[in-house]
Amino acid sequence: MDTQKSKTALITGASSGIGQELAKLFAKDGYNLVLVARSTDKLNELGGRFWDEFGVETTVITKDLSEEDAARDVYNQVREKNLTVDVLVNDAGVGLHGLFATDTDWEKEKALIHLNVLTTTQMTKLFLKDMVARNEGKILNLASLVSIMPMPLMAVYGATKAYVNNFTQSLVNELKNTNVTITALLPNATDTDFFNKAGAAHTKVTENLDDPAVVAKDAYNALMKGAHKVIPGGFSNKSQEIMAYVTPQEALAGMMRKNMEPKDETLSEEKNNKAAWAWGISLGAVVLAGAALALLYNTSSTYDKARYRHKAGKLKSDADEVYDDVKDTLINGLNNVREAVVTAKQVVAKAKETLAEAWS
Ligand SMILES: NC(=O)c1ccc[n+]([C@@H]2O[C@H](COP(=O)([O-])OP(=O)(O)OC[C@H]3O[C@@H](n4cnc5c(N)ncnc54)[C@H](OP(=O)(O)O)[C@@H]3O)[C@@H](O)[C@H]2O)c1
Repeated sequence: MDTQKSKTALITGASSGIGQELAKLFAKDGYNLVLVARSTDKLNELGGRFWDEFGVETTVITKDLSEEDAARDVYNQVREKNLTVDVLVNDAGVGLHGLFATDTDWEKEKALIHLNVLTTTQMTKLFLKDMVARNEGKILNLASLVSIMPMPLMAVYGATKAYVNNFTQSLVNELKNTNVTITALLPNATDTDFFNKAGAAHTKVTENLDDPAVVAKDAYNALMKGAHKVIPGGFSNKSQEIMAYVTPQEALAGMMRKNMEPKDETLSEEKNNKAAWAWGISLGAVVLAGAALALLYNTSSTYDKARYRHKAGKLKSDADEVYDDVKDTLINGLNNVREAVVTAKQVVAKAKETLAEAWS
């Protein structure tokens, strides 16, 4: 007799987009599901499909999670049904596009903050306590790649995601002596109904969207490994993280703003924008190589210190070179964008080489 009890995953926002893709992965792996959102029909339909395809049970909880104490109500319903939540996914979230001072509506913003921040926090509070008591469990919180950048024209949304990421990283530390893990998911712009609902379907950022199935797959793997964060989508998205850490906030805000402006208004800016990203990636690579050298230097013998001083000098001239090259490229304008990209590639290669040599 199979005595192994099926595990249960609770997913908010499973009626569409990334949440729905995550629900499919859990169902495929044999998890029973608790699906929470407002669209009862869509959740019931999903539950039926999961039963037919994978033989897993789905409990549907219809709830507007932007309401006061919505999380407490969901938690109580789960307890009444005698369910143990092994994995919690806080996916439900919305955005809102427009200038904060003059365009956006406060009531919508208040509901957004309630959903993205308060409900995520309260869900985590309620379910995490039980997980810690059992010394077992996993939580996935939906942040965003914009959680580490300013986000003009979606200022309140960006701030809520910064909260979720920061909150999650603090809990990673608080949980380190337990078997409970918490993971922040930082997707780049993804092809769901999100931008449409946020009133941002007309913006530049929607021209290049990631596949929600790929985002969910990367997130699922990272969650199962207990990673503290995951940026799906390979090198291009991860390099944006490096760029966000090394680029001055004002410049970053300018680039992000262009992404959130209407497509036709930004066409002429597109190439400069790409050059700016290339510059950021180059600079990031040099900074990383420099940091690695500094670490090595502090723990080295006198002979190695001399070696690393030489390499640091070389790295500095690389940095000067990239600065001059890309500055010229930006000044010369649109036609030279390709040069900036080539320079970026060269500096990444040089940084890699320096690192490899330093470690050898
Ligand atoms: N798409 C992107 O570019 C992107 C990038 C980074 C992060 N994210 C984050 O990913 C998460 C999922 O977004 P998505 O892209 O998959 O968008 P989506 O397709 O619009 O899905 C949003 C989900 O949240 C649920 N939801 C919205 N408001 C709710 C409310 N008041 N109460 C309960 N459930 C509610 C929706 O269900 P109902 O409408 O049925 O209630 C839906 O299932 C969000 O937290 C978003 O911030 C998205």
